[in-house]
Amino acid sequence: MMNYHAIAIDGPSGAGKSTVAKELSALLKFIYIDTGAMYRAIGLYTAHKGVDANDREKVPALLPEIKLELGFIDGVQHIFLNGEDVSDKIRTEEASKRASDVSAIPEVRAFLLDFQRSFAQSNNVIMDGRDIGTVVLPNADLKIFLTATAEARAQRRYIEQIAKGMDVTYEQVLEGMRVRDLQDSTRAAAPLKPADDAVFVDSTEMDLQQTIDHVRAIAKERIGV
Ligand code: DC
Repeated sequence: MMNYHAIAIDGPSGAGKSTVAKELSALLKFIYIDTGAMYRAIGLYTAHKGVDANDREKVPALLPEIKLELGFIDGVQHIFLNGEDVSDKIRTEEASKRASDVSAIPEVRAFLLDFQRSFAQSNNVIMDGRDIGTVVLPNADLKIFLTATAEARAQRRYIEQIAKGMDVTYEQVLEGMRVRDLQDSTRAAAPLKPADDAVFVDSTEMDLQQTIDHVRAIAKERIGV
């Protein structure tokens, strides 16, 4: 059965999942698996092909053409779409929207499931996403549900995007976040929801370091790592 440790971190966009997961995986020497990047890469592929990311016939038909691979460069996950490193290209607002669209399609979720699970079979992992504790790794040793208010999450995402030189307003980021929150939590296929045995962490009033320290303490207490 499970010989390796798995920590699942789920929650809405901008709650700090990826930063917490990255930092914690470096501390614990676990590998960090960002499952959102996989949906983003598929979203990007629909854009390359000029296919509507909501098209429930055309998107599944593209899946056999898609090969995803993860690589780790200096401990940082890079995602390759048919051999091309698309780690930066998947971080645009358009790719975020398309990722949310394709992630509602059951065939897309089924396509990624074994790929995602495979990492936990031979590594200690921290995996972040929306359905890691509920669907992907229901036997994870620890499940964290990391949230914050939409305003706090939009503010963080806005600062990140401005720092990258993107031309966005706070209002646009907040609106995009609200649309995705609603879409991700109301879809029929594996909606965003906490697992019954998840530990809730609300990061609204915490900075990143406090959030990392808090989750670190929970991991130590619950699973002794
Ligand atoms: O975490 P993120 O923002 O990179 O995720 C991009 C989109 O992918 C998001 O709208 C929800 C979806 N997603 C999902 O449905 N299941 C996951 N395990 C991870 C992401």
